[in-house]
Formats: sequence, C-alpha cells, structure tokens
Amino acid sequence: MLKDYEINKPILETDRLIIRVINESDVADLKEWLGRDEIYTYWGRKASKSEKNPELMFIDPRPWVKRKPSPDFDWGIVLKESNKMIGMIAVFNIENARMGDIGYRVNPDYWNMGITTEALKEVVRFIFENTELDRLNGRADVRNIASNKVMQKCGFIKEGTIRQGKMVSVYCDYNIYGLLREDYMSRGNTHV
Ligand SMILES: CC(C)(COP(=O)(O)OP(=O)(O)OC[C@H]1O[C@@H](n2cnc3c(N)ncnc32)[C@H](O)[C@@H]1OP(=O)(O)O)[C@@H](O)C(=O)NCCC(=O)NCCS
Repeated sequence: MLKDYEINKPILETDRLIIRVINESDVADLKEWLGRDEIYTYWGRKASKSEKNPELMFIDPRPWVKRKPSPDFDWGIVLKESNKMIGMIAVFNIENARMGDIGYRVNPDYWNMGITTEALKEVVRFIFENTELDRLNGRADVRNIASNKVMQKCGFIKEGTIRQGKMVSVYCDYNIYGLLREDYMSRGNTHV
C-alpha cells in the first residue's frame, strides 16, 4: 500500500524558510542561481542544460508514461522574507521505507547564513517524526567544508572516509555520515 507521504508531499516551515515541492512558478527564481558553476565544484561537472534552463525540468519527454508516485522528497527552499526559492533539499534513494540519502544546494548569494542547516534540521525532524525511515545517509567531499559542517551541525555522525570513491560524477576522498532514528530520539526528540 502507498504511504501517505508518497502521494502528499508535505510543506515544512522554519523561522525563515518554507520547504515545499518545486513547481513551474519557481522557474524564474531557480534561473537566477541553479546554473552557476560554483555550485558544482565538488560534483565534478559543470551545470547541466536543465540546471541552466530550469524550465526544461517541467517539459515531460514521455508524457504518455504513467508516472509512479515516488517515496523520495524533492523540495525547494523558499526564503519567507522575499518569497524566493533560494535552494533545494532532497531525501532520495529511499529504500524499503528504511533509509534514504540527503542532498542539498543553495544559491551562492545566500551561503554561510545558516540556511541549509536550518532546512536540514527541519527535514530530519520531519523524517523521524513522520515516516518509518530509520537512517539518513550523507556524503561530502572532504574539501567541501560547508557541506561537512552542515551535516555535523545537524547531528550527523561521521562514520568514515572513502578514499578516491565515486561521488556524483567524480572520484574523490569523501566523508560518509549517518543519522539514525535512535540518535535523533536520544537527543530528547521523543515524539515518534
Ligand atoms: C553546501 C551548501 C549547501 C551549504 O549551504 P549554506 O546554507 O551556506 O550552509 P550553512 O550556512 O548552514 O553552513 C555552512 C557552514 O560552513 C561554514 N563554512 C563555509 N565555508 C567555510 C570555510 N571555508 N571554512 C570554514 N567554515 C566554512 C560556514 O561558516 C557555516 O558554519 P557556521 O554556521 O558554523 O558559521 C552550499 O555551500 C552549497 O550549495 N554548495 C554547493 C552544493 C554542494 O556542495 N552541496 C552538497 C553536496 S555534498
């Protein structure tokens, strides 16, 4: 049976942010930053065609294919103050309602303002309070200080370093992080 979260993707809220599904009306905001190459420094590639032209994300190449609801979460991060979509955050590769990977990217004009940390803390809360997932995985190139810091500030435990492993499109040394439901609960978050 489908889980509620496979059909109805929630809207999350923090002090400064709304975290919600991306739609066509967000294209203009995404166009301001999603194609900037500095976002992809540690992804081993430059911005793709659809990242440079986000309107392409909404053109369905095979409209006749019946899309299955996905358990994954692909959210945009909206700054309440300006109502602009300034980032993306995802929980993807969800397996057996048991674990999933996290990923995020933010408009470089808003880096180092705590935006991703604020968004990820709320996503973690949502996942452990509203889904059956027991584990979130994170990965970050050892040189990507900001991303490593985000995970650490959100309570993820560094579990090791993969040497010259493949991450996105590049071989590099990367840290692997994990956060378990029991870690989250043991920190006084008992509402499950
Ligand atoms: C990773 C990314 C999403 C972080 O977003 P952000 O909103 O700037 O993150 P936050 O502000 O919440 O946290 C970043 C932290 O790193 C720190 N930081 C960043 N660069 C740093 C540096 N060179 N040296 C020391 N600290 C640094 C910031 O000061 C901040 O820590 P603080 O709050 O303790 O001061 C953003 O850099 C990004 O979009 N990068 C490109 C995409 C990417 O790499 N995604 C992750 C793939 S694993």
